[in-house]
Amino acid sequence: MNILLLGSGGREHAFAWKIVQSTNCTQLYVAPGNAGTESIATNVAISITDFDAIRDFITSKDIALVVVGPEEPLVKGIVDFLQNQPETAAIPVVGPSQLGATLEGSKDFSKRFMQRNNVPTAAYETFTADQLEAGLAYLDSQNLPIVLKADGLAAGKGVLICLTLEEAKASLKEMLLDQKFGEASSKVVIEEFLTGIELSVFVATDGKNYKILPEAKDYKRIGEGDTGLNTGGMGAVSPVIFADEAFMAKVEEKVVKPTVDGLAKENIPYKGFLFIGLMNKDGEPHVIEYNVRMGDPETEAVLPRIESDFLALLHGIGTGTLDSYELKISPDYATTVVMVSGGYPGSYEKGKVISLPDTVQGAEIFHAGTGRNESGELVNQGGRVIAVTGKGESLQEALSNAFATVKGINWDQAYYRKDIGMDILNLM
Ligand code: AMP
Ligand code: GLY
Repeated sequence: MNILLLGSGGREHAFAWKIVQSTNCTQLYVAPGNAGTESIATNVAISITDFDAIRDFITSKDIALVVVGPEEPLVKGIVDFLQNQPETAAIPVVGPSQLGATLEGSKDFSKRFMQRNNVPTAAYETFTADQLEAGLAYLDSQNLPIVLKADGLAAGKGVLICLTLEEAKASLKEMLLDQKFGEASSKVVIEEFLTGIELSVFVATDGKNYKILPEAKDYKRIGEGDTGLNTGGMGAVSPVIFADEAFMAKVEEKVVKPTVDGLAKENIPYKGFLFIGLMNKDGEPHVIEYNVRMGDPETEAVLPRIESDFLALLHGIGTGTLDSYELKISPDYATTVVMVSGGYPGSYEKGKVISLPDTVQGAEIFHAGTGRNESGELVNQGGRVIAVTGKGESLQEALSNAFATVKGINWDQAYYRKDIGMDILNLM
């Protein structure tokens, strides 16, 4: 079949890498893609939010499956759009409906969904600008630290963990009255601070059936030892040793089942991936957030561990036939180290020429923010540039493979964290 994949990050390069391994893949198109997807598929210069152009492309290339990588087109309703067009109505799409995507697009919507469906999560209340006084009084009644979340999408920046009451009150005012995060903070969720160890669980669902993919831990901060500014993600490790069988069984019973059942019961069309950010608090899972897509860079650590046909998994999601899919997971470790442009997540220079090693052992190189200059050389075009995934029978071996490959990749001002996976290694 011909497939169209939307997106241009490391996640999409990993998706493309896995899809083209399937014998059922005739032609893979990636819109817009990057220099990595270009080498294994056909890049198409269409924006992920240009729905009309996407529909026309699907029709002209006889596309049989559409896979949506990032959240933006999902939250903007691409799935409903394609279903409502006569030309594309019958084509399966991997990605939730706009209502389903609201689980990521609105923190208040997702908290209310969790409450209705008895999914364990932190206690909370939501406030708008005209409820500022009530919000301040609520803060007075809560323990510290306290978490403030912009309701809408804020590019991963909308969450504040406040250590003092003064800070929390000032931040609430800035969010509600001064639109600190623009329209996204016109509503603010005030939430109990959870302590514990964080991990990400990934679920593939067709709205009725589900498969739990390998879990992962990501590294959000720019600096070693989890210091400095938040980023999109600087690395990932899978499996996560503290997510043992007993804990994952609780995740399935208390979180995954009530979530998928809740979507079905509430008639929220959902054929796609669900990324559940969890806190393991004294052995009990609590949901921090839902994302309506796979994580990046977690995908680059999760997909290399899937041994069964990934295109068949995607097809099962899109066509509602996931019950007949047999998921096979490798027990091996996969560790991803993200190489970024110096200065990221602040400003950085683009157009630096990247040199890649000729041979790679025990690792896979995924492109994120890469492109080509006028001379055809590989250059950085984004903040997160390359994600290297090492594999191995042990965590140590996977990390050695990843870092050995990273050392052979160079460009002016490249930066990466040398401590990815070290915290887990120390727990073992
Ligand atoms: P989010 O943007 O929702 O992924 O939140 C960013 C990060 O803030 C999460 O990955 C957690 O590390 C942290 N966080 C969010 N909510 C809470 C909470 N209720 N308690 C503790 N940490 C939290
Ligand atoms: N790595 C976190 C995310 O994809 O949201």
